[in-house]
Amino acid sequence: MKVIETKNYDQLSRIAAQMIGGQILLKPDSVLGLATGSSPIGTYKHLITQYEEGVLNFSAVRTVNLDEYCGLTQNSEHGYRYFMNHTLFNHVNIDLKNTFVPMGNAEDPEQECLRYEKLVADLGGIDLQILGIGHNGHIGFNEPSESFPSETHIVDLAQSTIDANSRLFDDPNDVPRKAITMGIGTIIKAKKILLIAGSDKREIVEKAIYGKITPEVPASVLQLHRDVTIIISAE
Ligand code: GLP
Repeated sequence: MKVIETKNYDQLSRIAAQMIGGQILLKPDSVLGLATGSSPIGTYKHLITQYEEGVLNFSAVRTVNLDEYCGLTQNSEHGYRYFMNHTLFNHVNIDLKNTFVPMGNAEDPEQECLRYEKLVADLGGIDLQILGIGHNGHIGFNEPSESFPSETHIVDLAQSTIDANSRLFDDPNDVPRKAITMGIGTIIKAKKILLIAGSDKREIVEKAIYGKITPEVPASVLQLHRDVTIIISAE
């Protein structure tokens, strides 16, 4: 596991974008596992800059997002499809048909989980998975629990996650209570993993990297992966 400490959030974002850019240059049809939340916004901004400067070409890139809230439509401005379109996809030359986010409003959510897990496998697996981390150590929406959930599944969000994410909703009661998320098994199968964390996540990142491997700290499972880079900013 490599740990890169940066001076600040902008440096973190630049370095993360360089790593993702390198992946795309070396393998133009890479399958990128993408994350939402505040942490990767700067990284996506720098990827857009690299595209605008003619360094990166996204035309063959495929993407699979980690998770989505249950019950939200594809157009919901609180949903992760909307987030990805507006934060990255609409600003680069990616083919939207090659971008995948779990369908939070699927009629049969259990079936959607199976479909999504197969979709990731059919793409040939994930070349580089980008992760943020929750204050409770969650990755994707894999909340602390008694075991590591393997495949894409439905989760009941932890109250702390609902509280943390309520900042993005007008009414905290509108925050969905459930989500579809790739499982720990889906994530850990990625060939490379890049976790980015702001200074507010230092404590949980240290616990995940140096502490016991336990499903109570879902990100601790990353200690078992052989190609993980963690970028954490000092301020
Ligand atoms: C959400 C997402 C996670 C993300 C986490 C941290 O719960 N499902 O994938 O890593 O929030 O978000 P932030 O980067 O906004 O702190």
